[in-house]
Amino acid sequence: MRLILIGPPGVGKGTQATLLKERTGALPISSGDLFRAEMCAGTELGNLAKSYVERGQLVPDEVTIGMMRRRLAKPDVRERGFILDGFPRTLGQAEGLDHLLSELGLELGQAVLFEVPEDVVVARLGGRLTCPSCGEVFHRVNRPPKVDGVCDRCGSALAVRKDDQPETIRERMRVFREATAPLADYYERLGLLRRVNGSGAPEAVYQEIVRP
Ligand code: AP5
Ligand code: MG
Repeated sequence: MRLILIGPPGVGKGTQATLLKERTGALPISSGDLFRAEMCAGTELGNLAKSYVERGQLVPDEVTIGMMRRRLAKPDVRERGFILDGFPRTLGQAEGLDHLLSELGLELGQAVLFEVPEDVVVARLGGRLTCPSCGEVFHRVNRPPKVDGVCDRCGSALAVRKDDQPETIRERMRVFREATAPLADYYERLGLLRRVNGSGAPEAVYQEIVRP
């Protein structure tokens, strides 16, 4: 499986990437998670990314493509296949990915585009809780943890992502419409696009992604 997941913030890309990993063994790679790990470690890349991520803006293409190049070159990508969550996000990144994959001799299988009304994603992001230790994602209403505020998987205290504030959510939506939505045409022309209704429950969305 070699997939990319495209969709507005909060549509469920990370949730579906986790399901796909559990059921197919393919490797989920989230550019947002990679940036957050660098930010947490206080690296040079992390410090640079922080100013963009916390304002809901995109990290510049050359920085993002460089980070993904290093990750995609690792042997587990070839061995397990991949689910790219949140990359590419601009036409420049899509072209960058084409080059990276051709250098590696790998072909993209499908580009999944999640479609969902904006009020649904705003509600999803407003209730999201994330585990800073293991990355597991919960929702106050849709997927509450068994013990309030505690990660089911590793027992750490759950947190609200810094960019899940109403103002920043609005900016991320704007950036999606402007920079990322045009990728639908790009992958449609390549015959790789699958449109998926992201409004249903996670299992229903999953079935749309994997249906033959
Ligand atoms: P990133 O981390 O990729 O954030 P995002 O795209 O805004 O998406 P989210 O992670 O917020 O949402 P998601 O679609 O994964 O939804 P989730 O599964 O968590 O990027 C963050 C930032 O990093 C960017 O703003 C940018 O600054 C930078 N960045 C990242 N990639 C970049 C790139 N390529 N180029 C430049 N900069 C980049 O679900 C959300 C909530 O809804 C959860 O609570 C979940 O439990 C719930 N939920 C999920 N599915 C369902 C469902 N079907 N029904 C009900 N509830 C559901
Ligand atoms: Mg995510």
